[in-house]
Amino acid sequence: MSTQTATFADVPQLYKRHIFACFTQRPAGHPRGSCGAQGAQPLWDRLGRQIEAGRLAADVGFTPSGCLGFCGAGPLMVIYPEGVWYAPKSPDDIDEIVETHLKNGRLVDRLVMVFGR
Ligand code: FES
Repeated sequence: MSTQTATFADVPQLYKRHIFACFTQRPAGHPRGSCGAQGAQPLWDRLGRQIEAGRLAADVGFTPSGCLGFCGAGPLMVIYPEGVWYAPKSPDDIDEIVETHLKNGRLVDRLVMVFGR
């Protein structure tokens, strides 16, 4: 029988937040499409630059991911620990996510990808 009393909150965290962004690029005309085909790369480049420029890198992990499974809604990114999925479409959207979510800890409602609706 285990006598473990630690909780998830007891585990030291490397980052305050961790972003996973889909870097999948499928060929043009592929039936599933891809985040890459929907313009993800320049958005993720900007996100990476904004994290560096805002001196957020110590608190915010930014990791390229493979397909997150909802290709038609892309480009997609997810931020933990909140578990919020965003579908940014423009550089302004990236800037708003950085300023509002990453710097001020508030949701960017209009960019949230909502499941099952
Ligand atoms: S290609 Fe990005 S979610 Fe599938």
